[in-house]
Amino acid sequence: MTRKPALAVVGATGAAGSELLQILTRHEDVWGGIRLIASPRSAGRVLSVRGEECAVLALDEDALAGVDLALFLTPGEVSARWAPVAVSRGAVVVDSSDAFRLDPDVPLVVPELNPHAARLRPRGIVASPHDTTLTLLPAVGALHAAFGLRELVLSSYQAASGAGRAAVAALREQLALVAGTELGTATGDVRRAVGEGRLGPLPAPLALNVVPWTGAVRSDGWSSEELGLREETRKVLGLPALKVAATCVRVPVLTAHSLTVHARFEDEVTVAKAHEVLATSPGVVLYDEPALGDFPTPADVVGTDPTWAGRVRRAPDDPCALELFLCADNLRQGTALNSARIAELIAAEFPR
Ligand SMILES: NC(=O)c1ccc[n+]([C@@H]2O[C@H](COP(=O)([O-])OP(=O)(O)OC[C@H]3O[C@@H](n4cnc5c(N)ncnc54)[C@H](OP(=O)(O)O)[C@@H]3O)[C@@H](O)[C@H]2O)c1
Repeated sequence: MTRKPALAVVGATGAAGSELLQILTRHEDVWGGIRLIASPRSAGRVLSVRGEECAVLALDEDALAGVDLALFLTPGEVSARWAPVAVSRGAVVVDSSDAFRLDPDVPLVVPELNPHAARLRPRGIVASPHDTTLTLLPAVGALHAAFGLRELVLSSYQAASGAGRAAVAALREQLALVAGTELGTATGDVRRAVGEGRLGPLPAPLALNVVPWTGAVRSDGWSSEELGLREETRKVLGLPALKVAATCVRVPVLTAHSLTVHARFEDEVTVAKAHEVLATSPGVVLYDEPALGDFPTPADVVGTDPTWAGRVRRAPDDPCALELFLCADNLRQGTALNSARIAELIAAEFPR
């Protein structure tokens, strides 16, 4: 007898969870029941998925019973505690947090690049990379297949929504406060006007500003997100010795992350060949006619599925290196879509 797998979305009320519900509604329906789960704060809230109204359950053991596949879009500490519970109740877990990404017994999967890895899951858990890593990987993975990647030097321009709903609320409040004022013209005036009370989870004011810090403090001046970008890229591409140096920066954009990339390869590169690779790679759109004003920006790519690539140039001093600019919707391409695609890969393992 065949049956469609039962799905639970844990974190259904969050920024990434809301995006996931839209994707489940839009994609081919491979699911039996869909259960929506969040914290006890949201229990009883009604959300729509696949055109049906569905009441949110509070996360507990009962809510996870009878689920074949559980998609976790929750803070790392919630995933760390509850994903193993879901597995013990018989579910396969796809987790979007940082709780398991670098666990050697948990595959880190980007379906365009390493779909086979999702089948080997000794802990019953598959992890999805950080949104900034996902902005990078479809394009850089394709260029690696063509030219052999040796080194990456990266700078990110990360949107507020990458830090969750509270960061979006803080940025909106700050933007309303500075609109129509002379703020931003004298040392510290934005910081004084915003005050500690309106920073939300951000370490500094974001309106009229850029903040060269995302994530938690790690040794030698690095942030957790900078080191995560390095280690996750190595893991997905299967290049444990790849040189990666990243600087992660938060910018006053609501949704869609961007990256500047300096990528050095084994072989000589040409812009024409790189264009050909990027234009034909799944999950990537090449948009690179600067003379016509055609390059990706967050405002233009928000709400779309792919990573957009533009500003492709050969490095002036190195025939083996490329400079490029990448841009993708962090909630959609960078979180929910990748999780949904991993879940669909696993759903295909169920007998039909
Ligand atoms: N935002 C991004 O661009 C992005 C990208 C990649 C990965 N991620 C990761 O995805 C996860 C979710 O991010 P987000 O931006 O969607 O966060 P968010 O907007 O803050 O949403 C968090 C979700 O987790 C739920 N939750 C919180 N505490 C819980 C608890 N104790 N028990 C059960 N559910 C709980 C929340 O439920 P309530 O509404 O009831 O509080 C909400 O549904 C995080 O691990 C984040 O690092 C996010």
